Amino acid sequence: RPLLDPVPPLPALWASVGFSIFAFIATLYLVPALGPTFVMKANLKGKDLLKVYSDPIPESQGLVCASIYILLLILFIPFPFSTSIASLSGGGSKIEGLLGAASLHHELSVYLSSLLSLLMATLLGFLDDVFDIRWRHKLPIPLIAAIPLLMVYYAEGGNTHVVVPIPLRPFLGLLVNLGPLYYLYMSLLSTFTTNSINILAGINGSEVSQALIIAISVIVNDLLYLPWPFDFRIPMHLLGNQIEVEVGGAWHAGMAYGSSELVGRHLFSLYFMLPLVGVCLGFMYHNWYPARAFPGDTLCYVTGMAFSVVGIQAHFSKTLLLFFIPQIFNFLLSCPQLFGIVPCPRHRVPRFVPDTNLLHPSKTVFGKRPPTRLASLILRIFATLGLTELTVDPTNGVILEATNLTILNFLLLRLGPMNEKKLVQVLICTQIAGSVIAFVIRYGLAGLVYDG
Ligand code: UD1
Ligand code: MG
Repeated sequence: RPLLDPVPPLPALWASVGFSIFAFIATLYLVPALGPTFVMKANLKGKDLLKVYSDPIPESQGLVCASIYILLLILFIPFPFSTSIASLSGGGSKIEGLLGAASLHHELSVYLSSLLSLLMATLLGFLDDVFDIRWRHKLPIPLIAAIPLLMVYYAEGGNTHVVVPIPLRPFLGLLVNLGPLYYLYMSLLSTFTTNSINILAGINGSEVSQALIIAISVIVNDLLYLPWPFDFRIPMHLLGNQIEVEVGGAWHAGMAYGSSELVGRHLFSLYFMLPLVGVCLGFMYHNWYPARAFPGDTLCYVTGMAFSVVGIQAHFSKTLLLFFIPQIFNFLLSCPQLFGIVPCPRHRVPRFVPDTNLLHPSKTVFGKRPPTRLASLILRIFATLGLTELTVDPTNGVILEATNLTILNFLLLRLGPMNEKKLVQVLICTQIAGSVIAFVIRYGLAGLVYDG
């Protein structure tokens, strides 16, 4: 049963492109128009930590982006469903009518539950901007926000099997059913995608550029699955050897092409990703160095949740995670600070030296409390791997300082000090390189460990 009726997909897809252009223009116009209200009426302003000036910059502008994004997604609802609606009102037998209605309800539940999760993410992000929620308190909220998505996944008989890579098959068989663990994994996915963008932040343009590149990567991936009139498609066996093979569902390896269900899922993903690109591009204009607007946590949460939504609803969560390689690296690197083993200052942004206008790695200082054995061990391993730089007391070898464990400080450590604009460009290149690697793994290397 198609998720969204893909029979004539193009009118709705073109409408989505139109909505995305509108999203771009609306964001471009509304962010500067509403910024002063955020500063004056709601006191939502931030100081740019890496500048000499201290003018208040409107904070939480992600709320403007999220509002435009969600309102446009709501206005868009009639478009993909127009064929279903037409078939409902177009006569036919009673059974056909009932089947059509059931299918329309199902499609709507997918769409509406996605909107619900996006709204929850907006609420959480905005509350975080206003109240600075402690991160252990805000961690479970995306888990709860994902429940509507998981229920819809369950209701459509969602697959919880994973295909075992060929080398492991003698031990585990062809498929392993993860059952409830798969649901746990999907709910953790939303926590990861929302928070991982938020903790790779602090320089102008960083949050929004990550979201933009991930969204474009998802779009490129979706386009591979559309029924193109001309034959530039990648060979069927590559699409067919799905890591996310659907068993018991309507399609599996050999049926990848022409499966309307698969096309429908990727259309759904496009409908959510195209306007996101519009919004991110529009916002990036104002957030680019030197920033005139800050995204706030709202933008990080909404974009992160949008990625979880498409990954879960369109069943490509593992491919999606491949687009998060820099975020996964940053998260793993951050763990000692996130879990309190190494002190985590309120801001881990690089250190700005006004005289040279360059950024240097910032440091966490141990002060009176020397590092625990575990902290010393981890930091020494990280230092050996070149991930951090330590300042050690020469008399007793105790660690006094370490550079903060983020990918931004790591880049500065390895490539040397650079200015903020250069650093965000390096970050963008890293993200793009990550996506290229993701495509190679997904469509190249996957063929080595999975058969068609
Ligand atoms: C996360 C990071 C924190 C980082 C902060 C920067 C973790 C655990 N937390 O915290 O280390 O310092 O993001 O966003 O890794 N800002 C700038 N320039 C920018 C963007 C933000 O100076 O381009 C500053 C502004 O003062 C702004 C503030 O960061 O007001 C926003 O920080 P916030 O998003 O509230 O920080 P967290 O997400 O809690
Ligand atoms: Mg933040």
